[in-house]
Amino acid sequence: MPAAAPAPDDCPYLPSMTAAETPQTPVPTTEAAAPTPSHGAPPSPGASHIRSFVHRRGHITQAQRDALERLLPLWSIPYRPQPLDLAQAFGRDAPTVLEIGFGMGETTERIALARPAENFLGVEVFNAGVGAMLKRIEASGLTNVRIIQHDAVEVVRDMIAPDTLAGVHIYFPDPWPKKRHHKRRLIQPPFVALLASRIAPGGYLHCATDWQPYAEQMLDVLGAEPLLANTCEGYAPRPDYRPQTKFEARGLRLGHGVWDLVFRRR
Ligand SMILES: C[S@@+](CC[C@H](N)C(=O)[O-])C[C@H]1O[C@@H](n2cnc3c(N)ncnc32)[C@H](O)[C@@H]1O
Repeated sequence: MPAAAPAPDDCPYLPSMTAAETPQTPVPTTEAAAPTPSHGAPPSPGASHIRSFVHRRGHITQAQRDALERLLPLWSIPYRPQPLDLAQAFGRDAPTVLEIGFGMGETTERIALARPAENFLGVEVFNAGVGAMLKRIEASGLTNVRIIQHDAVEVVRDMIAPDTLAGVHIYFPDPWPKKRHHKRRLIQPPFVALLASRIAPGGYLHCATDWQPYAEQMLDVLGAEPLLANTCEGYAPRPDYRPQTKFEARGLRLGHGVWDLVFRRR
């Protein structure tokens, strides 16, 4: 059984979010779905894994709601426990970068605009963020972004075939600072093994965080994954393609440092 959801104020990021930015009720997930075959990859975390997010009620703007209604059918791919044909999903065969937890989508938009030859598959659970991303897609005329509104652990496990991704971006994942919540952190050995198996040889995994203990955990976990090799001695300088994210700006205002990690799939 999934662990009981902690109170919202246990997550350090939420109190500083404005009402319009607060994550919304996610779409129904397949909490009880049976795990599907893992395509020869390492054993999956299973259907009863502990979620890296909690269901919350919150405000969604009317514009985000409208965008969800109008644009979700155009740009989103429904979760299905079967491998996704990426070329079909994007209407072209191009290197595909997965982003987990795009938040309000500002970073995704900037990177997708700067790298038009690549496909960007964004996975996010909360309605306000997905609505905001959809608005960006429309406003910027982006055609190389698709969204899956679902738990990324299940998306990676069930929909991404092994050795397919050109890259993975995980920017400022919820740090879950309290010890009893560390089990909710996304970057843990079983998920990293699964994720690494989905990256094509030579592809990359780029994580960033402003929470030093989580940065240290990321370095340990990624460093111990046999399919991954660090591109740097320890932490990486921020690559030029990654703009400052909203959560990064907040962390900097609070006096936090920022740590990037860039690993290559062997
Ligand atoms: C702290 S926010 C960071 C957002 C953005 N990357 C940024 O830097 O501004 C983390 C985001 O990850 C999302 N998230 C957490 N666990 C997730 C999961 N298992 N699948 C999809 N999204 C998830 C949350 O909904 C939240 O929007």
